[in-house]
Amino acid sequence: MTSTLDINGKAVTVKAAPETPLLWVLRDELGLTGTKFGCGMAQCGACTVHVNGDPVRSCVTPIAALSGAKIATIESLGGEHPLQQAWVRHDVPQCGYCQSGQIMSAAALLAQTKAPSDEDIDNAMSGNICRCGTYQRIRAAIKDASGLAAAPVVAAPPAQGSDKPVASNDVDDEIAAASGSTSRGVGQ
Ligand code: FES
Ligand code: FES
Repeated sequence: MTSTLDINGKAVTVKAAPETPLLWVLRDELGLTGTKFGCGMAQCGACTVHVNGDPVRSCVTPIAALSGAKIATIESLGGEHPLQQAWVRHDVPQCGYCQSGQIMSAAALLAQTKAPSDEDIDNAMSGNICRCGTYQRIRAAIKDASGLAAAPVVAAPPAQGSDKPVASNDVDDEIAAASGSTSRGVGQ
């Protein structure tokens, strides 16, 4: 059976049974691998996407429930969204696996609440689990993106010829991995 879905502003026709979870269609049919599979039962938030602007767990949302809905995935943020920039400034990701879901929940929060309180952030983010414990950096990045807190001070790079090792900076790669746009295949 075919269904037509509105994903990231495009009408997409997919061949899948109506009860198929959206996450399966995104990843396996459409190659939108920025959205991750974690628990498969609405417990971790790794699979979070937006449906009509609200954060939704795509692992338990059948495509039959999405007729006429506007679906947005991490790929729709484009890599330069203020939250993605704040994520980089605060070095939020560790393994990176949960981060696309975290960013999508945060994006839904900021779209509705421009200046969220700590309580707003806790309420919005409580369903997104991070096994690496990046919660403090996530909160700081959300506040930075919303203009409630200053960006962190970034240390100057070592002078040329210094014998100090140059720290590898994989954060951009991790964000790219979370948005499914890397060739390294991290977390896919
Ligand atoms: S994979 Fe959907 S909430 Fe965990
Ligand atoms: S950064 Fe590793 S699970 Fe969140």
